[in-house]
Amino acid sequence: MLKRSLSLLFMMVVISLLVACGSDSESSNDAADENASNEETDNNSESTGSGEGGTLEIFSWWTGAGEEDGLLALIDLFESKYPDVAVENAAVAGGAGTNAKAVLAARMQGNDPPSTFQVHGGAELNESWVAADMMEPLNDFYEEYELMDKFPEELIDLVSKDGNIYSVPVNIHRGNVIFYNKAVFEDNGISEPTTLDEFMDVLQQLQDAGVTPLAMGDKEAWTATQIFENLLLATLGPDDYRNLWTGDVAFDDDRIVEAAEYFKTILGYVNEDHASRNWQDAAQLVGEGEAGMTNMGDWAKGYFSNDLELETNVDFGYFAFPGTTEDFMVITDTFGLPKGVEDPELVKEFLNVLASAEGQDAFNPLKGSIPARVDADPSKYDEYGTDTMEDFQNSNLTPSLAHGSAASEGFLTKVNQEVNIFVTQQNVEQFIEKLVQAAGDL
Ligand code: GAL
Repeated sequence: MLKRSLSLLFMMVVISLLVACGSDSESSNDAADENASNEETDNNSESTGSGEGGTLEIFSWWTGAGEEDGLLALIDLFESKYPDVAVENAAVAGGAGTNAKAVLAARMQGNDPPSTFQVHGGAELNESWVAADMMEPLNDFYEEYELMDKFPEELIDLVSKDGNIYSVPVNIHRGNVIFYNKAVFEDNGISEPTTLDEFMDVLQQLQDAGVTPLAMGDKEAWTATQIFENLLLATLGPDDYRNLWTGDVAFDDDRIVEAAEYFKTILGYVNEDHASRNWQDAAQLVGEGEAGMTNMGDWAKGYFSNDLELETNVDFGYFAFPGTTEDFMVITDTFGLPKGVEDPELVKEFLNVLASAEGQDAFNPLKGSIPARVDADPSKYDEYGTDTMEDFQNSNLTPSLAHGSAASEGFLTKVNQEVNIFVTQQNVEQFIEKLVQAAGDL
């Protein structure tokens, strides 16, 4: 009976992911193309091991600008320790796993799991792969490598279910950040807003100055969902934001209507070509000074620093999404051990490198995230990193919906679809109605 309901749950996850992927056929094609070119790169550069020590296939969505530098540094580190292992970088392009999650679902369903894969801590791990009994518990691994006290308890909780630990966090990203162009703010005498009302004023000031106030790239809908989730956090506050995911706050609550109204106002200040840009293209507008601000997780910091070669607190600045200055929207990328892989011990060797302070300090300064480990070396990070480490210690921690931690994939897929419709139609009443309907699946 339990087995039957688990396979039913698994099928639902697969279907919702495939539906999500099919709804953006253009980017799927892009992904397929980029994937093919990744394979070429892999053959040339990543798979440098002889293979005598086995093959390790690492699955993620970290390709291209702002995404892959950290991963490649981690792979380099692993290869320097295990030169005989052939590493295959099986990344599938598309921010927030837009395409990767569907490819992964098909592979898992076909009993062809990668050696290890990127998965967000929280619902994305626990309600999909763990619930479908497809992951090995890692409690012994944590014991053996003495990792139990190396990660904040909150993170261990996010990667645990029913007393078992199922993955290893490589980082902590913050989702409620606004990045802005320093020169644009200075030239127009604008200071960082802390409340939603001040934010509305800044949007108008930038508009009056002839600059696109907020760059958005919702070619993939999750970027708009991320703005909405930050508005939910601002209007509900951290406690009731968390209560949304347990069903204790209803989606027709007045404060959610208020968040939707703010969202509508904000949409009046975004670049006209938002629907044809992805998050990097939108962030680039800020880097170039064509737009004042963008709301993005701090993988955008990696993009600004490494790809656009901009300097932190000189070329670009940052502040918490207005109304959420005391809060930290947590996004954690983790890797686990799927059941049925060829060489579980080899996967554990990789997870151990990823879990080490050395591994985390190779990955995170490039990725824009902070280390998940509590004892990593702060001197390896610039001011953005050290500020964020401090904020993580002193903020209310809340799980991101857009990045898989707060609620199931099925619910997230529906929200992304409704947000996409809202961005075009801007009908608050209809949006709320659809959210209430979708919440039935929470
Ligand atoms: C998130 C992921 C980040 C980053 C971002 C954009 O879901 O956690 O590491 O990759 O998507 O693709």
